[in-house]
Amino acid sequence: MKFPKNFLFGSATSAHQIEGHLNNDWARWEKTTGHISDGTTSETGADSWNKWRDDIRLLNNTSQNAYRFSIEWSRIEPEEGMFDEDATQHYREIINELNKNNITPMVTLFHFTCPLWLDDIGGVASRKFARYFARFAGRMAKEFGHKVDLWSVINEPSVYVNAGYIIGHWYPGKRNIIGGVKAFFHLVSAHKQAYISMKNANPRVKVGIAMNMTAFAPVKNTWCNRVLTRVAKWLVNEYSINLVRKNLDFLGINHYMSHKIQCKKPVMFDEGGVKSEYGWSVHPEGLYQVIMEAKHWKLPIYITENGTADSSDKLRQSFITNFLEKCSKAIADGADLRGYFHWSLIDNFEWASGYSMKFGLHTIDRKPRKSAEIYKKIIESSR
Ligand code: FCB
Repeated sequence: MKFPKNFLFGSATSAHQIEGHLNNDWARWEKTTGHISDGTTSETGADSWNKWRDDIRLLNNTSQNAYRFSIEWSRIEPEEGMFDEDATQHYREIINELNKNNITPMVTLFHFTCPLWLDDIGGVASRKFARYFARFAGRMAKEFGHKVDLWSVINEPSVYVNAGYIIGHWYPGKRNIIGGVKAFFHLVSAHKQAYISMKNANPRVKVGIAMNMTAFAPVKNTWCNRVLTRVAKWLVNEYSINLVRKNLDFLGINHYMSHKIQCKKPVMFDEGGVKSEYGWSVHPEGLYQVIMEAKHWKLPIYITENGTADSSDKLRQSFITNFLEKCSKAIADGADLRGYFHWSLIDNFEWASGYSMKFGLHTIDRKPRKSAEIYKKIIESSR
């Protein structure tokens, strides 16, 4: 495998999933029973609020040179307009420590959670959401812009809306298409406004987004299947990116799934073959496909998430090798791919599945799995 000299090899996490001890909209929802399949809550997380130094040690031990994490809005702004200096200082220390260790930070500012005061007026569905978010984002760019170049500002807007407003198994647990469409456009507007406020605060920050991209392919190469596949690609992958294209300095791709499409029932189904514990098929070609398809936006690309639920770690060991091989091939074939962040550094609170889905290169008590060792070898041999 060949990678450019400055390629970022990292891992990704999010505050709500690893920090623990949170007081936001999801945490409040988890306390009312029946929402999290294993009956747990995010209260403990991976205790990274206290153990973040251990997390950086894990990155160092595995020779990773990048870390994507999120700054939790509800900690920074626990009351509307009240910005908490202790919480800001906490993230300042994390960022300083990463920089000290030559680990490039990539920061997300919305990874599915809202402060309670905002949730009380409707959260993402509120017309005020974008304005409040842009204020918070501008503040973070002012505070940390000289230490953090890369900002994957919003995580997977369409996944958030689909799971929370259409299927309803995530917070806010709604099944309301109109509400979902509104929430989606509020997120789009939040991204655009955040782009402006962040650039005003510090023009050198690179503002991106982490978009979920699925690989679609027709079952048989018929005209109808091809047309339908094209529609699926446009709707699921391209539409959201086109909406924010003018406000992107880079494109972050979260890739987990590959689907087959046909003009009969079932119209769409999972690629098949080997599957993770979540039931998602392991299909490295899918990652290659979405990277190559993303080339036409002519933006630097980062894989901001890619990983698999695998408590035995048997799947992950070949997963990490095979998916990185596809990254290397995409670069050789002309993609401007600048980094890969494995989901996740450590097992964590996997939303409505609680702790039952294990995505970590490390267990929650910070023991490396064999795949962490393999990742380290790949990183070292490619340098
Ligand atoms: C992505 C989310 C991330 C994690 C992985 C498994 O959709 O961004 O927080 O839950 O899935």
